[in-house]
Amino acid sequence: MEFKTNSKAETMELGKKIGALLKSGDILILEGDLGAGKTTFTQGIAQGMGINDYVKSPTFTYVMEYRGKIPLYHFDLYRLKDPEELYDLGFEDFLYQGVLVMEWGSMVEKMLAEDGFDYIKISLLKTGENTRIIHIEDTPKGQGLYKELSL
Ligand SMILES: Nc1ncnc2c1ncn2[C@@H]1O[C@H](COP(=O)(O)OP(=O)(O)OP(=O)(O)O)[C@@H](O)[C@H]1O
Ligand SMILES: [Mg+2]
Repeated sequence: MEFKTNSKAETMELGKKIGALLKSGDILILEGDLGAGKTTFTQGIAQGMGINDYVKSPTFTYVMEYRGKIPLYHFDLYRLKDPEELYDLGFEDFLYQGVLVMEWGSMVEKMLAEDGFDYIKISLLKTGENTRIIHIEDTPKGQGLYKELSL
C-alpha cells in the first residue's frame, strides 16, 4: 500500500483522491518528520472534499475547522503532552460532524485503538528533495481505502 510522489503537486493529487473517498467519522493519522509533506497532503485532502480554503499547519491552535459539505477538522498534535488531551480538544464532538485529519497523530494511535476507534494511518517519508514515499498502513480502514483507491 505504497505510493511514490516526485513533487508537491503529486502529493496533493494523491491527497485529493483520498479526500474524495473520506466520509464523516473517518479519522486519518498522518505520520512523518518535519517537512515530510503532511500539511501538503492535507491541502489535497481538503480539495478532494470540495474545500477550497488554504490549509496551513494549525500548530498554535491544535485544530482548525474547514467548512465544506462535510467539515474537515485538521489537527496538529505536535505539542500534545498526553494522548488523553485529545478528548479535551473536543475530538468526539468533531467525530460526529466530519473528517478528522491529525498531523503527528501517532501520539494518540494507541489510545484510539484501545478506545475502539478504527482509523486510517498514512506515513510520509522524505526520500529526496522532491520525492516522498507515502504508505497507507495496514489497518482495517486503511485496507478499505486502499481497495477503493485501486478500483
Ligand atoms: N513530493 C513532495 N511531496 C510533498 N511535499 C514536497 C514534495 N517535494 C517537495 N516538497 C516540499 O516539502 C515541504 C513539505 O512541507 P509540509 O508543510 O507539507 O510538511 P509537514 O510534514 O506538514 O511539516 P511539519 O511537520 O512542519 O508540519 C513543502 O515545502 C513542499 O514544497
Ligand atoms: Mg504540517
